[in-house]
This record gives sequence, C-alpha cells and structure tokens, in this order.
Amino acid sequence: FSLKDHNSFGIDVRAEKFISIENIKDLRSLLRKSYAAELFILGGGSNMLLTGDIHKTVLHIALKGKKIVSEFENKVIIEAAAGENWHEFVLWTLEHNYGGLENLSLIPGNVGTAPIQNIGAYGVELKDTFVSCKAMNVQTLEEKEFSLEECEFSYRNSIFKNQLKGQYIITSVKFRLTKEHHHLQIDYGSIRSELNEKGISSPKIHDISEAVIAIRRSKLPNPQELGNSGSFFKNPIIKKSQFEDLKAEFPEIPSYEVSDNEIKVPAGWLIDKAGLKGYRDGDAGVHKNQALVLVNYGQATGAEILALSRKIQRTIKDKFKIDLEAEVNII
Ligand code: EPU
Repeated sequence: FSLKDHNSFGIDVRAEKFISIENIKDLRSLLRKSYAAELFILGGGSNMLLTGDIHKTVLHIALKGKKIVSEFENKVIIEAAAGENWHEFVLWTLEHNYGGLENLSLIPGNVGTAPIQNIGAYGVELKDTFVSCKAMNVQTLEEKEFSLEECEFSYRNSIFKNQLKGQYIITSVKFRLTKEHHHLQIDYGSIRSELNEKGISSPKIHDISEAVIAIRRSKLPNPQELGNSGSFFKNPIIKKSQFEDLKAEFPEIPSYEVSDNEIKVPAGWLIDKAGLKGYRDGDAGVHKNQALVLVNYGQATGAEILALSRKIQRTIKDKFKIDLEAEVNII
C-alpha cells in the first residue's frame, strides 16, 4: 500500500497494510487483537517525514463528528473527533460564530494530532482554548480523559511527545470557545497590516481568519501542489547572553522574549541569513519564500529531505553556534 497520498511531504513509501478506523468499537477490537508495536498510528500525515517503508500495519484514525457539549454565559464547549480535518473544523466553528480558533486557520492536519505538538500560529496555541482530550491506551484499551494540566503543553510540545509517546491514541478533543469575542489576537506578525490594507479597523473573527489565510497562502506552499510539512525545525530558544553576541553581529535579527534570560529566534531567519533560502539538491529543497519550510519538488525520498535537514543543521551550528531541532517527526 503506497502512503504517498497520506503524508503531506508526498513521499512514496509503502506500508504492509492500511486500515482506516471510523469508530471507537473498531479501534478497540483492532487494538485487542494486535500488538501495539506492530501498529503505526497515522492522523493527517502533515507533520512527519517518512524515510523508509513501514513494516507495520498503518492505522489511519478516521473518527468523525463534532458536537456542542455545553453552553454557559459567553462560552461554548465543543467536542470534535480525532479524524476531523483541522481547517474544516475551524471553518465550522467560524460558521457558528464561535471564537478562539480563528488564528489557527489553514493549519494542515487533523484534530486528533493537534494536541500532540500543541499547534500554534499568529500568537495563539491550541492550549489556549483546549479543555481536554479523550485517548485510548494502546496496551490496556482503557479510555482516559486528559485535562489541560495533564497534557503538559509547551511550545510545540506535550506529554504525548514525551513520557506517553506511542502509548495513547487521541480519539477526540474538547475546546472552550466564545460566543462574543472580546480578546482578539491581532498583534502578531503581519495580521494588523493585512487588516489595515483591507480597511478593517474593528475586525471580527472571520476577518482575522481571512487575514491569516491570506498571509499563510502568500508564504507557505500548499502541500497539494508542493510537498512539505510546514516548519521543519522549531524556533530555537537561546540564552540572553548568546543573543546579545548575535545581535552585536546582526543588529536586524528578529526575536521574541520567552523569559528573563531566554530568547526565541526565528529559525527561518537563521537559514535565510546563512544563504540557504531557495537552495535545492535534486528534488529536496528549501522553500523560496519561507526558509523554515523544506519541500519535495516531486520525487525526493525521505532520506534526501533528511540529508538536506542535516546539512542545514550543520550550517547553522557553524555560523551561529545554534542547534536546530526538528519539529516534524522523523520516521
Ligand atoms: N524570516 C526570514 N526569512 C525566512 C523566513 C522567516 O527572515 O525565510 C523571518 C521573518 O521575516 C520574521 C521571522 O523570521 O521576522 C519569523 O517568520 P514567520 O513569521 O514566517 O514565522 P516562523 O517563526 O518562521 C512560526 C511557526 C509557524 C507559524 C508562524 C506564524 C514555528 C516552528 N513555526 O514560524 O508554524 O505559522 O510562526 O505564527 O514555531 C508550523 O509549525 O509548521 C508552522 C508553520
């Protein structure tokens, strides 16, 4: 079975067997008769780099459904199943005029994989509206509901990437959204200038979503047209002292303060400054508009993309003494 259409990098590797799971009952019975180690769990396939054939059965989580769980005052709790496409879910919340996810428009992937890396964009992270998620233990088949605290969210990180890696399959996620919207986030990146250009001075959630979509389309390649997994690396967080040294050499370096002595710098800027933006080796390349995005021009293998990512890591280490850490899962 070819996985080419099931990973946004468009890498053509094969899996022994592919099973799409559409309800919890099937998930439970499949887990009961298999060893967890023989299964490979697949969501939207938008945050991974496949570097070889998968000698396992691929379990494609295709659980569907979304519902209003409760409403109180200005809040509404929505539960969405893991297999819902993230962006379609965001559009659905906007159609109902529920606020909170508008800045996260157009992020590839599914609802169930969004908590694993605490997806984020334009000043908002999943954790900001997250209430809980249900997940099934792959060994015991027990279903557990994880609270916000239990998920241990941080920048592009959660307990599901660490202590509980590979142990649970997230089946649904609950969000707390607003019915009237008093706290809109438009300070990040170019949202404000995008809105100004359209002459919008008091934006609604729909305007923010449209602005985010326009910005993303202008710099991020559409995976349907050019294989990619969004940001390939995390933005590194460095010591303030190291940042001061860099700033002395490169006064224009962008930065975000994370704590009193830590600064986050954009990996895209570092890669761009190192002269690698638009670099291409065969069909593996660095995107021409956003150096943090690696792309597959057609026939690149996972190994070729991985080799390119290592070359970038070496270059950034030599030039800036900074270690870049992959954000996508390398399989
Ligand atoms: N920059 C350059 N050259 C480049 C790319 C970026 O100089 O080639 C500079 C930009 O001019 C800007 C800064 O670097 O000053 C940051 O760039 P950008 O606003 O495009 O955001 P980013 O830091 O590269 C992060 C997230 C994205 C998210 C955007 C917007 C990470 C790893 N990436 O990217 O998330 O959409 O901010 O909030 O945190 C993803 O995780 O897959 C992803 C796309």
